[in-house]
Amino acid sequence: MTPDSTIDTIDTIDTIDDVLVVGAGAMGTQIGAAYALAGYRVTTGDLAPEALDQSRDEAQRRLRRLAEKGTFSRDEVDSALERMMYTTDSLEAARTTDFVLEAAVERIDIKRQLFADLDEAAPEHVILATNSSTIPSSLLMDATARPDRVCNMHFFNPALVMNCVEVVRNPQTSDATVEAALGMVHRLGKQPVRLNKEIPGFVANRLLGALRNEALRLEADGVASYQDIDVAARTALGHPMGPFELMDLVGIDVSYLIRLSEYEQSGDPADLPHPSVQKLYEQGRYGRKNGRGWYEYTS
Ligand SMILES: NC(=O)c1ccc[n+]([C@@H]2O[C@H](COP(=O)([O-])OP(=O)(O)OC[C@H]3O[C@@H](n4cnc5c(N)ncnc54)[C@H](O)[C@@H]3O)[C@@H](O)[C@H]2O)c1
Repeated sequence: MTPDSTIDTIDTIDTIDDVLVVGAGAMGTQIGAAYALAGYRVTTGDLAPEALDQSRDEAQRRLRRLAEKGTFSRDEVDSALERMMYTTDSLEAARTTDFVLEAAVERIDIKRQLFADLDEAAPEHVILATNSSTIPSSLLMDATARPDRVCNMHFFNPALVMNCVEVVRNPQTSDATVEAALGMVHRLGKQPVRLNKEIPGFVANRLLGALRNEALRLEADGVASYQDIDVAARTALGHPMGPFELMDLVGIDVSYLIRLSEYEQSGDPADLPHPSVQKLYEQGRYGRKNGRGWYEYTS
């Protein structure tokens, strides 16, 4: 199948009304709410009924808060909530959906099985997108019979707030799929970034990684303190927080383990966690979550 062979049959942005979000965790919850606010009917699917209950509560709380702040009217929020449904049977919901966004747990075996099952269940023309930050759709597409309708659509956390969505094609993704995904991002009122090829970390997280690596180097070389490097990032570059503050927010343990897994995949010593981060990790200084990382936190 050539990349453009589905151009006449794939759904265009105007014909996508029903969206299935698979995975009701941190990302799926807010992505589902963002779709509902944009007028889509959204079904959120998860294996765990308690995850669905939590997701419903969280989406209601966040959307009502947007109405209180005046970002959306009460009517807009109420009708968005009416458009949100929940199910433990994602495959049943897939039978009548126009588009699938997978936001389940970050495990390739689970995602491959899901893509195979969703491919069986969803109508042939439906796009299957993954929100994965680290698993490119080329590692999922061959679990389906529709590799041209598989891509990454990478939302950022928190998805109701963050405007950027990276649309990443794999070598077999059709132009029609890319255009439909980009159009959908526009309809969500968000800003798409088109990646013409897959690369680990995509664009935004690579930029962030480069800044973090340079910040760690400057601190380790004694050029400036981590506090002053954060001041430079905030006041000269206009970043909302500096790289060390961000590491504390994300979690030193999370940063450490991500780098370790990158190293395990690449075997490149340049991907190893920075010695300063390793030291914090070994000291149990995980950042804001336990009150101490680069900085100390009182409450
Ligand atoms: N957390 C972030 O900051 C972030 C940012 C961008 C992208 N992502 C990506 O989004 C995806 C989800 O991340 P998250 O942080 O929301 O995870 P999470 O752990 O909060 O939620 C994952 C959910 O998937 C459900 N699940 C697991 N297997 C399932 C299955 N077979 N069918 C249906 N549901 C299933 C779990 O019950 C859980 O509720 C991952 O691929 C991750 O890479 C995460």
